[in-house]
Amino acid sequence: MENTTRSTLVSEDVAIAASFLSNGKLVAIPTETVYGMAANAFNDEAVKMIFKVKNRPFYDPLIVHSNSVLKFTTWGINIPEKLLPLADALWPGPLTLLVDKPKRFSDLVTAGLPRIAIRIPNHPLALKLLEAIDFPLAAPSANPFGYVSPTKVEHVFGHFSGKIPMILDGGPCTVGIESTIVGLEEGEPVVYRLGGVSTETIERIIGLVHVKQSSSRPEAPGMLIKHYAPPQHVIAVDNQREMDEAWNKESAVICVSLKSPAEATNTFRLSAEFGDEEAARNFYTALRNWENKPEVKQIIIERLPDFGLGRAINDKLKRASS
Ligand code: TXA
Ligand code: MG
Repeated sequence: MENTTRSTLVSEDVAIAASFLSNGKLVAIPTETVYGMAANAFNDEAVKMIFKVKNRPFYDPLIVHSNSVLKFTTWGINIPEKLLPLADALWPGPLTLLVDKPKRFSDLVTAGLPRIAIRIPNHPLALKLLEAIDFPLAAPSANPFGYVSPTKVEHVFGHFSGKIPMILDGGPCTVGIESTIVGLEEGEPVVYRLGGVSTETIERIIGLVHVKQSSSRPEAPGMLIKHYAPPQHVIAVDNQREMDEAWNKESAVICVSLKSPAEATNTFRLSAEFGDEEAARNFYTALRNWENKPEVKQIIIERLPDFGLGRAINDKLKRASS
């Protein structure tokens, strides 16, 4: 039996991580987007532990990670021709493809859905780890279900210290928001989750895509309305007047170009000059900034210009505030 009170190793040692994973244990791993809670995707008992430790419902499927398209192919996964240019141009990177699920993969991983989500992450330690093992890693974001995703080792440690044997320490995540999820419907590309690759970039590669709006249907639970939420009430604002109206003494402010009210003591500026990539990198750290400050009851957040990664951030903001 797992001893749930033992200590959690935080280390850069890929060989130790590979050995835990080969033995059916969980390891939190760095990726360029967010930290993942990884297990051998071919080991049902290990995969079940992911759901258990995250308190994640079994209807929410997991993304499967590897370091090469060739490995995916040997496991029976075929990438449709229409999506291949995305894989070629953007992998390793913050892109997840939804493709037909081969029998080899368990329904636990895909929540019984007909497709499987696959990704090659762009992080040197994750790639080294994936290279060292001959099985894929199922890995959702390493946060309790519904909470803000982790972009630093200390975020993961705060949630899971003593509950998993190891966190592979890869430093802060450079992209900072989850991968963009793309699949086909009736042969046409659909974006199911806005993320680390902008819609503009995807459209430059494969032409126009349809972006699915927020939904309560479970076809991609990353689309669930309430998600990525910090403990405080979150309010999104578009301009200085809305900011000033929403403000009270129990507020913290996350902003880009607006001014926080003169009396505000809790302010987090997302990017020095507006830069959508910098804003994405800082976004989840900002949301977590007051999690241990009970005097802060609400967070007022400035919506970003709706292009590039700003669009993905605004989408997450909508979910955090709903
Ligand atoms: O950047 C990322 O994608 C990170 C890192 C660790 O790779 N992972 C991540 O996983 O964000 P997670 O579990 O937090 O979000 C995965 C989402 C699911 O909630 C669901 O929306 C979608 O991916 N998904 C996964 N498998 C699917 C499937 N078979 N069919 C439909 N949607 C799926
Ligand atoms: Mg998640």
